[in-house]
Amino acid sequence: MSTSRTQFSTKLGILAATVGSAVGLGNIWRFPYEAGQGGGGAFLICYILFVFLIGVPAICAEFSLGRFSRSGMPVAYRKAASSRRWDFIGYASVIAAFLIISFYSVVAGWTLEYIVDSVLGLFQSTPDSSRHAQFADFTGSWKAVGWMVVFLLINAVVMLGGVQKGIERVSNILMPLLFLILIAFCINSLTMSGASEGLGFLFKPDFTKLTPEVVLGAMGQAFFSLSLGMGCMVTYASYFGDDTPLIKTSIRIALLDTLVAIMAGIIIFPAVFSFGMSPAEGPTLVFEVLPNIFHAMPGGRIWSTLFFILLATASLTSIISVSEIIVAFLCDDLSMSRRNATIVVTAISIVTGMLCSLSFGPLANLNLFNLFDFISSNILMTLGGLGICLFVGWKMDSKEVENQLRHENGHKNALYRYILFCIRYVAPAGILIVFIAGLL
Ligand code: PFF
Repeated sequence: MSTSRTQFSTKLGILAATVGSAVGLGNIWRFPYEAGQGGGGAFLICYILFVFLIGVPAICAEFSLGRFSRSGMPVAYRKAASSRRWDFIGYASVIAAFLIISFYSVVAGWTLEYIVDSVLGLFQSTPDSSRHAQFADFTGSWKAVGWMVVFLLINAVVMLGGVQKGIERVSNILMPLLFLILIAFCINSLTMSGASEGLGFLFKPDFTKLTPEVVLGAMGQAFFSLSLGMGCMVTYASYFGDDTPLIKTSIRIALLDTLVAIMAGIIIFPAVFSFGMSPAEGPTLVFEVLPNIFHAMPGGRIWSTLFFILLATASLTSIISVSEIIVAFLCDDLSMSRRNATIVVTAISIVTGMLCSLSFGPLANLNLFNLFDFISSNILMTLGGLGICLFVGWKMDSKEVENQLRHENGHKNALYRYILFCIRYVAPAGILIVFIAGLL
């Protein structure tokens, strides 16, 4: 296969970019409220099982396909299958990427507004009772649309920089910053009066809350959080060097991503309990509940500024990776220049993002925001994950898969057999069972 394709320049850059893709709103915004509604610890156990039994093998499958084909979707399938029969999975991924970018950029835009509000001390100067109405007014307004556009333009600037000077450089700067802020928050949270109650909620399982729907939710969350099932890891791996150890990298991503989700839980639940709020608040958890907490906290203005910078940072490195799926598709499949591809992605996302944003206001009846979220995370990503595992496990040349996965820096990876078994049997069976049970 041709190796003239751009590559990430360092191993650390690869880790920063892939972890940057995985760590995002999924960890800090979505995980805490899904766990809050799914019974805390019980959800967490399911989630961790999915991450390691299905997530890690699926990342390995995506990596193998990406590095072998050195292409984005759907060309990667076409090259590995030597036919166009599997192209539809690739096209579904590109559609899923558009759906995700549409609702994701809306929430990312909210984080920018909240950074400004925090700096201005707005949560300090307005009463808690007004929070719900304020949030509802803001999210349904054109101002929210404006912030979404700003976010997409920042994303476009990074994308125009290319793989090394854009994606890799930004990830190298932002990821360490993100971990520093997370650690500071965890320390602060553990000193709160509701710390033990919050940690109890996060770590003590209540299995009565585990309905098939919650289990499907946990699997969807694992896929979403690991950026799986839509070719994001295929696309990034197409820029990996030949010496990048795929299994090791997959495990590192899963560990770091889960660590951040747990840290987000450790940050949010103690605060929620300390201030007598409900952990099952839903999607508005970090935007309505946390400002009340920042209001009452010593140094709240600084903490809230930091928190929303954290969210914005995490969102940016993830949105970059979703856009890269589409940019790589436009460049590899339609031979577009990177510049034109970036313009196309940004223009379309602004329109679809606007429709999602206005779902909180004038377009409430349509509610595309929830629809896009549901279709992409619970349907397209899970089916895409199934497709990639079946393809790499059963269709792709098994020698090639072994070449990609087994040999790491001249050593044989001892986990190769286990990973291959999971790609072939455990992951497809698990995905199918949970998917069908959840839908029924
Ligand atoms: N993994 C990201 C998060 O947890 O926020 C979301 C995401 C990024 C999903 C990239 C899909 C993707 F291709």
